[in-house]
Amino acid sequence: MAGKDTFYVTTPIYYPSNKLHIGNAYTTVVADAMARFKRATGSEVWFLTGTDEHGQKIEREAAAAGKKPEEFVGEIVAWIIELWKELDISYDDFIRTTEPRHYKKVQQIFTRFYEQGDIYKGKYEGWYCTPCEAYWQERELVERNCPDCGRPVELIAEEAYFFRMSRYADRLLEHIETHPEFILPPSRKNEMINNFLKPGLEDLCVSRTSFDWGIPVPFDPKHVIYVWLDALSNYITALDYGEAESGKMARFWPADVQLIGKDILRFHTIYWPIFLMALDLPLPRTVFGHGWLLLQEGKMSKSKGNVIDPMVLSKRYGSDAVRYFLLREIPMGQDGVYSLEALIKRINTDLANDLGNLVSRTMTMVERYFDGILPEPSPPVEESDAELQGLALQTPALMEKRMDELKIHEALAGLWILVRRSNKYIDQNSPWELARDPAKRERLGTVLYNLVESIRFIGVMLEPFMPRTPDKIWSQLGLQAESASRDWASLQQWGRIKPGTLVRREEDLFPRLNLGRELHRDQIREEAAEKKERPHKVKKEAGPQKNAASEEEAGLITIDQFARVDLRAVTIVEASAVAGADKLLQLTVDLGTEGRRRVVAGIAEYYRPEELIGRQVLFVANLKPVKLRGILSEGMLLAAEDDRGGLALTTLDRPLDPGSKVR
Ligand code: MSP
Repeated sequence: MAGKDTFYVTTPIYYPSNKLHIGNAYTTVVADAMARFKRATGSEVWFLTGTDEHGQKIEREAAAAGKKPEEFVGEIVAWIIELWKELDISYDDFIRTTEPRHYKKVQQIFTRFYEQGDIYKGKYEGWYCTPCEAYWQERELVERNCPDCGRPVELIAEEAYFFRMSRYADRLLEHIETHPEFILPPSRKNEMINNFLKPGLEDLCVSRTSFDWGIPVPFDPKHVIYVWLDALSNYITALDYGEAESGKMARFWPADVQLIGKDILRFHTIYWPIFLMALDLPLPRTVFGHGWLLLQEGKMSKSKGNVIDPMVLSKRYGSDAVRYFLLREIPMGQDGVYSLEALIKRINTDLANDLGNLVSRTMTMVERYFDGILPEPSPPVEESDAELQGLALQTPALMEKRMDELKIHEALAGLWILVRRSNKYIDQNSPWELARDPAKRERLGTVLYNLVESIRFIGVMLEPFMPRTPDKIWSQLGLQAESASRDWASLQQWGRIKPGTLVRREEDLFPRLNLGRELHRDQIREEAAEKKERPHKVKKEAGPQKNAASEEEAGLITIDQFARVDLRAVTIVEASAVAGADKLLQLTVDLGTEGRRRVVAGIAEYYRPEELIGRQVLFVANLKPVKLRGILSEGMLLAAEDDRGGLALTTLDRPLDPGSKVR
């Protein structure tokens, strides 16, 4: 994409049949990071997303919900728009296939195909998968089920229009073979050629007559247009296809990146380019089929009840943390696994330890040693300074390269090398030791200046991935909104932040989280959601509650509230790993006369099971039991955690009888 000053990126348009899950959000977060990155680096960007609202699947689901399709989709579309707001998705246009600007153009497209002989009328007799809205040949079925989603297919027989795919098959094959960037990653290209193009393309059925919820064929209105022909056209109808030549079509078509999940590759790399050829339009530069976001137990699905709601996650952990996790954890093009443990680990290590600590340590030292006034750097430049500066100056180009190759996870990994290098620079130069020697004050000033400048570089490069965090950095660095030092172009020059700037330490960017507690909370929330009650609902107590609200606001509890926590000293008698969860240990603790309890604790990274046996620790005995990784956990060990990622159990300094109360 180098040398091009416009950038058009699209996501698939989503079926508004259910709330979206974290896998769907992944596609859109990736597209958003690409769009923001291209904007930051100077391209004119158009970023399109939207909803795919017609078809039999939606019609049936609306009927099952007892609603008219319009009403049914309207509610979910509103939720999807809300979700994109929550995740800071910076789309330029959101298209709904029910909008007149779309469906009128689809009717024109269909008519054109018919008039130029690409479409003819016939009868379809064969298999159909409604959840995928896809036609299948008998030989393609897997045990009589849809080869894509595994669900049962239906036999349909109806009058239909067909598109002569075979007319364009050779041209498409040639295009795919001569444009290595057209289908990415490259492995997906062979899949398309060998599974679909080489065996010979069948004509595609492009209309249905057995239901109504779709765009009518203008010259034969008992037919509705096949939902995939309708939906795929969105990528050009949203650019006002067919309107003035000088408009959005001229500026942005062909698309630079059409981002999709690997399951819908066939529609985007066979049907879609053939429709475009029939319209005499150039093909998108790249269709990228990303991998699948899985759970440890396999696929997410509504029927299994294991879908992860991105809205809930984002509200709980912040949209930047969720975005960072998705972009960093899943290598672009490959499958990735979501688990709460993996998310918390990314938050604690990359965000709290690496990035958060870098900012808080640096700000604290400028405040402590220079009253918050950024000192002037002075020569001579030492080796560690030159290394840090060199790395900071190289990182933007490295990220641009990685982003052009669509390797987002590597772009972020490259940025984190600078984050970690900056932390290492602190350790190498030990500013706290320099501060003890008045003769080293200039050196101390230089070290802190370099750190602040490095944080500025990091803040600029973070924005496309985590749009909220840079503002928190700018406020600590005293960089106003209009400052050019927040622009990508400013990264060509080291030393732009002005000495004398007032910097200040503010709240930690990413407070560390306790894994055990988060797993516990997650479970409680799930149980509450199942019972359809609000979590943590506190019953009003009787009697006058003077000042209760303000005490609660100040985070204070009464002695009675404290006394409700049953704290005990317990002895650990058994400890072992939890299969499939590398951060968890299962323990048996002895409460003396009250017997033994099983607990699951997120301490495997800090303690080996054998070293825990016999230790006495503090324990919350009246915590509501929850199942963690299938094991019932009845209580919680108490541990303390510091900002550097250290964790220590609260052990006793002399032996007591197991089960002793803490008062
Ligand atoms: N409506 C069609 C697309 C039409 S585009 C002209 C559709 N919609 S969808 O809502 O079912 O899926 C939208 C996107 O989410 C697809 O790219 C799909 O691959 C992606 N994903 C669905 N589940 C996913 C995961 N578990 N992981 C990653 N992506 C996933 O298909």
